[in-house]
Order: sequence, then C-alpha cells, then structure tokens
Amino acid sequence: MIQIRRFQVGDEPALFRIYHSAIHQIACRDYTQEQLDAWAPAALDPVLWSARMQGIAPFVAQDGEHAVGYADVQTTGYIDHFFVSGCRPRQGIGAMLMRRIHEEAVVLRLPELSSDVSRTAQPFFERHGFEVVEQRSPVLRGVVIPNALMRKSRDW
Ligand SMILES: CC(C)(COP(=O)(O)OP(=O)(O)OC[C@H]1O[C@@H](n2cnc3c(N)ncnc32)[C@H](O)[C@@H]1OP(=O)(O)O)[C@@H](O)C(=O)NCCC(=O)NCCS
Repeated sequence: MIQIRRFQVGDEPALFRIYHSAIHQIACRDYTQEQLDAWAPAALDPVLWSARMQGIAPFVAQDGEHAVGYADVQTTGYIDHFFVSGCRPRQGIGAMLMRRIHEEAVVLRLPELSSDVSRTAQPFFERHGFEVVEQRSPVLRGVVIPNALMRKSRDW
C-alpha cells in the first residue's frame, strides 16, 4: 500500500532515481534526447542535489521499502518538483501526491498553487484544476526546455 510521508534526510539518492527515471522514461515523449539530458543528466553533484531536496522538503510516496514518487509545495504555494518513478506511471501515485499538496494548502491557508509544468505533466495538472498562465522557454545547461506556468486559485 502506498503512503505519503514527509521527506527524511537520507531520501536524496532515491529521489534522484525517481527524478531521472520520470524524465527519461515518461517525459521522453515530449522532449528530445538533448533536452532530457540537459534536464536530468546521468549524474548530478550529490551535494548540490541533497541540498536541493533538503531545501524543498517534498512529500514522498512510499510503497513498502521503495520511494516511488515525490512532490513539494512551498509556503508561497509554488510546486517546485513533481515526479513519479518511470517504472510506476498511471497508477494514481501522482493523484495521491496532488491530494496531499491540497491538504497542505488548506493547512497553510494558501491563496493559490502554482508551478512551472512540463509539457508532459500539463494534462495531469489541468485535470487537477490548474490553468496555463503563460508558456515559457527556460534554458537549462544551455538547452531550451519549454514549460508552462500554471496556477490554481483557492477552491479548498
Ligand atoms: C505527471 C506525473 C507526475 C503524473 O504521475 P502519475 O502517477 O502517472 O499520475 P496519475 O496516475 O495520478 O494520473 C496519470 C494518468 O493515469 C490515469 N490513471 C490513474 N490511475 C490509473 C490506473 N489505476 N489505471 C489506469 N490509469 C490510471 C489517470 O486517469 C491519469 O490519466 P490522464 O493522464 O489521462 O488524466 C508523471 O507522469 C511524471 O512524473 N511525469 C514526468 C515528469 C514530469 O513531467 N513531471 C512534472 C514536472 S513539472
């Protein structure tokens, strides 16, 4: 049974595997190999990655011994990372993480949620009530990786 829990120090390597597999196995349908490699290189500096994960402190979807997805929400309502393992797509794990983020939005009394959402994840975010505010073309490691700023106003 999958449970959603808070981030714990030590989760960082498992979260990197989720991030990498989500991008290379799921987002690959919408982005070129060059874009995927720039977005999720095979190796990222583990110190920087750990600092990043500890900084955003995401919720983690845990199935037995394995972390299978993670997503954060900041006190501004911004969702920085939202990834489900490339081995576990379309099993409702993303929906569970999204529900947990909405529960947190209630607790924090957030007026809105927002995120820079990949092309791959846009239909998923739309299904959860987000709307596109603007298309964006951010550059990561020298490569343009198009996404969209999406927002959802309070209905919680
Ligand atoms: C976007 C993402 C987080 C969604 O995660 P997910 O766990 O697959 O999401 P869900 O399973 O809740 O929903 C996805 C789809 O599976 C369907 N689904 C859910 N449970 C299902 C089940 N048991 N059987 C069949 N389909 C199911 C949902 O209806 C939904 O369908 P839709 O896309 O047609 O609406 C994931 O695909 C991902 O990590 N993508 C790549 C990385 C990325 O772009 N991340 C976002 C960066 S902003």
